[in-house]
Amino acid sequence: MGFLCLILVVTITTSLAFPINHQNYLVLPHSLQGSGACLSWRVGAEANNIRAWTQVPTKCVDYIGSYMSGSQYRQDCNLVCNEAYNYAKRLNLTNDGKDVWVFDVDDTILSNIPYFSAENNWQGVINTTSFAEWAEKGEAPAIPAALKLYKKLVKLGFKIVFLTGMYEQYTDIRIENLKATGFTEWEKLILKGDNDEANAVVYKSSKRKELEEGGYRIRGNMGDQWSDLIGTNTGDRTFKMPNPLYYVP
Ligand SMILES: *[C@@H]1O[C@H](CO)[C@@H](O)[C@H](O)[C@H]1NC(C)=O
Ligand SMILES: *[C@@H]1O[C@H](CO)[C@@H](O)[C@H](O)[C@H]1NC(C)=O
Ligand SMILES: [Mg+2]
Repeated sequence: MGFLCLILVVTITTSLAFPINHQNYLVLPHSLQGSGACLSWRVGAEANNIRAWTQVPTKCVDYIGSYMSGSQYRQDCNLVCNEAYNYAKRLNLTNDGKDVWVFDVDDTILSNIPYFSAENNWQGVINTTSFAEWAEKGEAPAIPAALKLYKKLVKLGFKIVFLTGMYEQYTDIRIENLKATGFTEWEKLILKGDNDEANAVVYKSSKRKELEEGGYRIRGNMGDQWSDLIGTNTGDRTFKMPNPLYYVP
């Protein structure tokens, strides 16, 4: 037991002393200060134990910036998508074109990290003006793990439904952005009505209900927000992509 503890301490000390950073974000020493408490905060946020938070706690802004820009976030995305594939490949599809996989779009399959990164905004508070400017460019890159999963699901025979909280006025931009990044086919792309004032849980639940009423079986449902995954008609199994940067109720 003592020996195991020693190994643990050595491992932790080593990983603190040599932060791995494959991205261009500079991991400053101060960003590691208090990382224990911030790791707890991140896990609490991911698990939906901390809810309706409006911004990353000030003391964790550097930590979350390092996380989102670095290799750990990508690794966490890989794990979720690998688990999703392990689940999906064991399902028996009926080949009637009704087995669907629902994906959220923003920060599930397309990344807004370039937006936050450009403003060095790791507090995660979205400026609606500058975010609209970013969205209108339609230049969000694919999240690599999600693109890989998407391609495998298509190959397995799933029909893909993209269900996004982005408003319908962005439909054309979204289609171009999806196609340009490799998401080339789908059964449905559902955007939010420009005057739809329902919150995300209500809106997404109602759209999933419509899908099921249309005879579709939601075999998998993946999103970066809990509001993508809770409510009604949530599907046979849900997968939570990491996002400790903002919370959509
Ligand atoms: C899929 O079908 C095979 C062959 O009928 C069966 O052995 C297997 O248990 C089924 N898997 C699931 C997840 O239902
Ligand atoms: C929000 O973004 C706009 C456009 O980039 C900018 O002019 C404005 O100052 C920003 N607002 C805040 C509060 O940062
Ligand atoms: Mg999202």
